Formats: sequence, C-alpha cells, structure tokens
Amino acid sequence: MDVEAPQRLQTVDALIPPECTPDQPTPIQWLESLETGNATIDGEHRGLIAQCNALRELVADPCRGALAEAIADLRLALANHFASEAEILLSTRFERLDAHRREHQEILDRMNAFARQAENAITVAERVEIIRAIGLLLIEMMIHDLDYKSHLQFTSNIRLFRGWRRLFQQRA
Ligand SMILES: [Fe+2]
Ligand SMILES: [Fe+2]
Repeated sequence: MDVEAPQRLQTVDALIPPECTPDQPTPIQWLESLETGNATIDGEHRGLIAQCNALRELVADPCRGALAEAIADLRLALANHFASEAEILLSTRFERLDAHRREHQEILDRMNAFARQAENAITVAERVEIIRAIGLLLIEMMIHDLDYKSHLQFTSNIRLFRGWRRLFQQRA
C-alpha cells in the first residue's frame, strides 16, 4: 500500500495502548483522525474494529477452529464493507477507484491467509501474532482510506453549493 511510513507509524503508535502484554493481542482504538467524514463508511469502520477486537477473546479458546471461523466472519464483513465503500466512491466518481479496489482485494487475500494460519495456530503466542497482524492490517486499511477523504468532502461541499445556488435562483 502507498502509505508513507512516518504518517503510518505515528497513527499506529497512537492506536496501541502501552499496557499491552505479549500474551494479549493489542486492542485497536478508534481515532478521530481516522474519520473519513462519511457516516456510512465511518460506522462500518467502527464495526470492523469492534469485530477485530472481539478476536482477542479467542486467544485461549480450546476450540481449535473458533479463531479461524471468526476471522472468516471478519473477512466477510470486510468484503461487505468494501462493496458499500466502492459504491459510494463510484457514485462520487473517485478517480483512483480501480487502484483502491485492488487494495481491497489484497486485504481480502491476506485475510484468507490469516484464516488458514489460524486453523493451525494452537499456542497463545501464535494466535496473538495473527490477531495483532489483522489489527495492523485494519489500521493500514483505514489510513489508506484517508486517500479519498478530501474527495468526499469536496463532493459533498459541491452538492451543498449546488443546492444553495438552486434555492437562490428560485428566489430571484
Ligand atoms: Fe477502502
Ligand atoms: Fe474502508
């Protein structure tokens, strides 16, 4: 992904609480700076974070397939999110949509790999590592989404402006 290292590291540092321990996956925290300004997208991002943080409960789960199953569920939620995000970007004619879609596919492929890894992850350390990597992937995804933030703001301001202009023209 084309995310500049300093920006990414700064945001990731802010998301990782210092009290995390090696045997406890890092919970992701929502940051205002990650907001895209689109209520649908931001709501879905928050839901994905909550779903990712819920994976932490399966670190010591005796059921071997439970984590892999939960990761598959998260992948499905991601796929649904990517579809609604693409629809919004298509309707607002985001010019880098094709590249953005490729990033989405890459994320889904990586989630498939994580689910496969989880099927064989028996130790706490292995599971923590997988959940941590998924958390980082979600953070990276949200940072990458900031690429269209100004585009959506511009589009919504233009719509607002056109609405006002119509109103003024009707009154004139
Ligand atoms: Fe995206
Ligand atoms: Fe997104």
